[in-house]
Amino acid sequence: MFINIKRFDTKESSVVSYEVDLVNPTLLEGLNYIKSKLDASLSYQAGCRSGVCGSCSMRVNGTEELACAYKLNDGDLIEPLKNLPVLRDLIVDMDKMMSYNLKAVAWSSENSENILVTQDNAEKNELQSDCILCGACFSACPVYEVNDAFIGPFALTRSWRYMSDVREQDKQEKMQAIQSNGIWDCTLCSECVPVCPQGIAPKQDISMLRAKAGIMGFMDPSFGGGMDFGGGFGSPSFDGTPDFNSF
Ligand code: SF4
Ligand code: SF4
Ligand code: FES
Repeated sequence: MFINIKRFDTKESSVVSYEVDLVNPTLLEGLNYIKSKLDASLSYQAGCRSGVCGSCSMRVNGTEELACAYKLNDGDLIEPLKNLPVLRDLIVDMDKMMSYNLKAVAWSSENSENILVTQDNAEKNELQSDCILCGACFSACPVYEVNDAFIGPFALTRSWRYMSDVREQDKQEKMQAIQSNGIWDCTLCSECVPVCPQGIAPKQDISMLRAKAGIMGFMDPSFGGGMDFGGGFGSPSFDGTPDFNSF
């Protein structure tokens, strides 16, 4: 079979066609074949070869896939992930995606309480804890075409992981961190859901964060224009700390 690979070096990109002489290979087996037999300069990355490490994520015919899990078809077009700078060929720089995790304060706080986690509590964020950092949801999100600062599905789903953790004590700080370029900028288009190899649904987690934001006194700034709570609540100048005494 022939497959087409979009190749990038520092200056330009081009699509190169390769003949892969293997029976029913995965994409990763196909790339290994090309690199070892046809073109040693092809660059891509992979680790576990079993869908665990998330490092082999790329796009096939426009859809995010793990190279070690995807079965190649004749004529497939292979491209790097979107919304991230391409370093070379199929390798992208994940620093930008990770920096949004930092922006969202999406980790366990130092002063998390050491309390018993029940089975019910654990089940609330078990799935989100299985994220393998593959970047597929980040690549699939169309919001980056118009807002490069969007915190995005990867970091927001991790934010929900900690916001829904019974041990977490700094929920106000975490919720504040995802107000600007965060939960309200998602269009709920669902593009991030089917591409996740772990079955995580970032859109659903963002919806949960929005509901929790409402309970905590935050609100969608796009509703702020017609409402006046006296203290600027909902306006661009609102600092995210609602004054309930003024209501
Ligand atoms: S649902 Fe939201 S986060 Fe997911 S792809 Fe659509 S806009 Fe992006
Ligand atoms: S949420 Fe899913 S698609 Fe997004 S980085 Fe984690 S494992 Fe990958
Ligand atoms: S090589 Fe680890 S997920 Fe594919």
